[in-house]
Amino acid sequence: MADPVPFSPEQVKKLFDLTGKTAIITGGAGFLGHSLAKGLTLYGADVVLSGRTLANLESTAAEVNAFGGGKAVAVACDVVDEASVDNLVAKTVEMFGKVDIMITVGGIADRYPAEQFPIDAWQKVMDINVRGTWLSCQKAGKWMIENEKPGKIITIGSVRGSAGHPGGYGAYGTSKGAVHLMTLQLATEWAKYKINVNCIAPCIFWTPLTKQVLEDEKLKQIFLSRIPWGRAAIPDDVIGAALYLAAPASDFVTGTILPVDGGTVGG
Ligand SMILES: NC(=O)c1ccc[n+]([C@@H]2O[C@H](COP(=O)([O-])OP(=O)(O)OC[C@H]3O[C@@H](n4cnc5c(N)ncnc54)[C@H](O)[C@@H]3O)[C@@H](O)[C@H]2O)c1
Repeated sequence: MADPVPFSPEQVKKLFDLTGKTAIITGGAGFLGHSLAKGLTLYGADVVLSGRTLANLESTAAEVNAFGGGKAVAVACDVVDEASVDNLVAKTVEMFGKVDIMITVGGIADRYPAEQFPIDAWQKVMDINVRGTWLSCQKAGKWMIENEKPGKIITIGSVRGSAGHPGGYGAYGTSKGAVHLMTLQLATEWAKYKINVNCIAPCIFWTPLTKQVLEDEKLKQIFLSRIPWGRAAIPDDVIGAALYLAAPASDFVTGTILPVDGGTVGG
């Protein structure tokens, strides 16, 4: 491989430019998906918002399009269903000619004490968070490899993927730990194809996924006491990390778990 040459000023100025890129965001109608779609389109990317319910995706896409920048469109996809993820990639290529960026936001949480965790509830979390993330990465990566197109894959982990918690995270924490390791594995396997695979691991933010915590004042305080910054995140806190990992700025960065957590894993 030829030695890289220093960047031109023009290249440096475009380190965060996503003009002409096509991104898929799974879980696109959720809180984090919406924020990331807003960020990516404002920096020039076209974004395919995907999730199970087309009507929700279409209204999110309309809100994202109101910001200007790249275009947002909606494609229904259940990330647990292999044929559905195949269809998502095929539809994206049909509309935009390629897939440059995959961000795997789709996920769920459920909490029970470990000794009482119903196995079906445990399995559902694993199916959506692990199988769903795997299929999303696998199908986007396969397209990039077969078409010899370098690309960026960003998984969404969690601080719960790196440390235990007393609040019943036997399924969620286990699933996010798997997402972290999956990221390292894919980054290692796909470096030869120049596919960057990185993970963003946020601390808690208030969405339907964390409603159970928000409604339990004692548990909420346990969470907040573990965040040195002294507050929960908001979905928009994650935009900068996603832009970095989607853009040329991170071309030599792969196999990282980037915490966006107010200092949680550092403390
Ligand atoms: N909220 C938090 O505190 C927090 C912290 C760390 C990581 N995360 C992660 O961020 C991601 C987004 O979570 P959020 O808090 O914005 O929640 P959210 O509920 O607003 O978004 C999750 C989205 O995933 C979608 N989804 C669920 N099952 C799906 C399936 N089978 N196929 C396709 N889409 C599916 C949901 O419909 C929803 O739109 C999740 O992966 C979550 O684990 C959240």
